[in-house]
Amino acid sequence: MEDLMADIAEYLQQEQEMYGSLPFPASDQKGGESESISKSLSKSSLVSKEPEKSKSTPAGEGIPELKHTSLENRLEQVTTLEELKRLCEESDELKTDLAGTNLVFGVGNPNADLMLIGEAPGEQEDRQGEPFVGAAGQLLNKILAAIQFNREDVYIANILKHRPPGNRNPSPEERLRSLPYLLKQIDLIQPKLILCLGKVSGTTLLNREDSLKNLRGQFYPFRKSLITVTYHPAALLRNPQWKRPTWEDVQKVRAKYNELTNS
Ligand code: URA
Repeated sequence: MEDLMADIAEYLQQEQEMYGSLPFPASDQKGGESESISKSLSKSSLVSKEPEKSKSTPAGEGIPELKHTSLENRLEQVTTLEELKRLCEESDELKTDLAGTNLVFGVGNPNADLMLIGEAPGEQEDRQGEPFVGAAGQLLNKILAAIQFNREDVYIANILKHRPPGNRNPSPEERLRSLPYLLKQIDLIQPKLILCLGKVSGTTLLNREDSLKNLRGQFYPFRKSLITVTYHPAALLRNPQWKRPTWEDVQKVRAKYNELTNS
């Protein structure tokens, strides 16, 4: 019970630190969201299901040879990151309800053995079209440097490819609509190791509702990779007490990377 209360307190503190007080209806908040993404994801085959939203323009409509095929077929026909980016650029279903945002596709080494996945672009990322370029990104660069990686060595992406309004948490529906594209991106890059930054990223990819404290520090088989989860850099900026566990996590990441790549 004490553990549970500590987890809840840690979670709420992290949320508040990252997003401030949440001005959203209860269904947009994490508890409701988490249950619902978990349910939605377990019902979904992830890459094979057309998202339910019907208002949006499915990706590929502008590419003649990809017209009239399901999302699964369109993604199957994609063989390069450039083609996937084109598909994402055409996809209204990747957008949030914030109008006029830019696609933040992902950046880095297309052959990276380490891929980092955050939550969603913020204001700076939306403006520059690149993940993790704001304050959290600066800290992420330092964390990477501490374990002897340059930003260019790894590949960085997010669960969502468009910025949500007010930097709110991505909704279950937004995560579900974005996931097939992200999974294709992962399959094209084929990283040996994936580091999820924060609870939204970890729980979405692992399709498992749990506290960050429970998720972190372990490696989970995922497609052809291993996944591990640590604190989001934005949370670290305001919660220095989480720097030590993060340091332990990323040292494990470096050791596992060396083991998997024989370096
Ligand atoms: N936070 C994220 O999760 N991703 C970004 O790209 C920037 C901030």
